[in-house]
Amino acid sequence: MVPRESRVVDSFDMRIADLSTTDLDQLHALSISVGWPHRAEDWQFLREVGEGIVAMDEIGRIMGSAMWFPYDEHFATIGMVITSPRLQSNGAGQWLMGHVLDRVAGRDLGLNATRAARRLYLSLNFAREATVYQCNGEAVAPPELDAPAGSVRRPLEPGDLDTIVELDKAAFGADRRTLLVRLLTCSKGIGLMRGDKMEAFSLCRRFGRGHVIGPVVATNDEDAIAVIHPHAVRHIASFLRLDTREKDGRFSDFLARCGLSVYDTVTSMSLGRRWLNVGEGDAPRQPRTYALASQTLG
Ligand SMILES: CC(C)(COP(=O)(O)OP(=O)(O)OC[C@H]1O[C@@H](n2cnc3c(N)ncnc32)[C@H](O)[C@@H]1OP(=O)(O)O)[C@@H](O)C(=O)NCCC(=O)NCCS
Repeated sequence: MVPRESRVVDSFDMRIADLSTTDLDQLHALSISVGWPHRAEDWQFLREVGEGIVAMDEIGRIMGSAMWFPYDEHFATIGMVITSPRLQSNGAGQWLMGHVLDRVAGRDLGLNATRAARRLYLSLNFAREATVYQCNGEAVAPPELDAPAGSVRRPLEPGDLDTIVELDKAAFGADRRTLLVRLLTCSKGIGLMRGDKMEAFSLCRRFGRGHVIGPVVATNDEDAIAVIHPHAVRHIASFLRLDTREKDGRFSDFLARCGLSVYDTVTSMSLGRRWLNVGEGDAPRQPRTYALASQTLG
């Protein structure tokens, strides 16, 4: 008998399982399947600081994921929402998000939506707030730069934790102490001091294909540039990334001069209260997030 040319073979019965106990290699394979750069270590980091679910088929294969990061009782970010390419456009994304929204009920929410996911989130009533520019590339030597007049830069120390938690909270709008404690264990940090007061800081850690700079909190472009300069110098000739909402101006010009060009964009969206403390084009008046910790973490 001649075999038929085609046959429908997909039939999945899926269940939701806790992401914290699932196989790291499978999570890694899932993000690779959608072209994301995360290493297994990056997944491990995320599940230490957040919570998540996976969609699993009958024989334990992970076909989808979604995570949330409940920073305090009022606010969480959502990220790592992935469905296996062969499952997409069948409602699995909606299904996973339904579970996530149940688990974070009562909190205001923020996320950074890829182009593929924007309509999914719009259909769940998330509102668009701003564009995030994913800047990356092989870092080139930045121009020489002194700290702004009247300031000095120094490496962050464990004793700076309270100060950076407060600066980050003023910029981000929620207390990310647990995340910052964990980030400090795997990042190099720079603080910008005026007298005894820290007015800007940056962290830089291994991530994906190389290193990522973030979060960066500062009140103006000059201070933000001053705290990322040492990281750019340290990573000359290697892959460096920074995600920012700064569209133009001195900060984004500086990124371009470091070899970090815009590779892609995502959209910051919120459900509940407005997330970001500055609108696009606003002049900075208070500490703001110049670089995200990551698209997932905000
Ligand atoms: C974004 C992503 C998670 C969406 O997952 P998904 O499983 O395709 O999501 P759904 O199937 O629930 O919905 C996607 C689309 O399918 C449609 N759809 C939902 N149920 C459907 C069904 N039963 N039959 C046909 N289409 C359906 C939805 O209307 C939606 O269409 P739209 O985007 O045109 O509005 C997935 O595309 C993905 O993993 N992309 C790569 C990673 C990524 O970008 N993640 C987002 C991070 S913010």
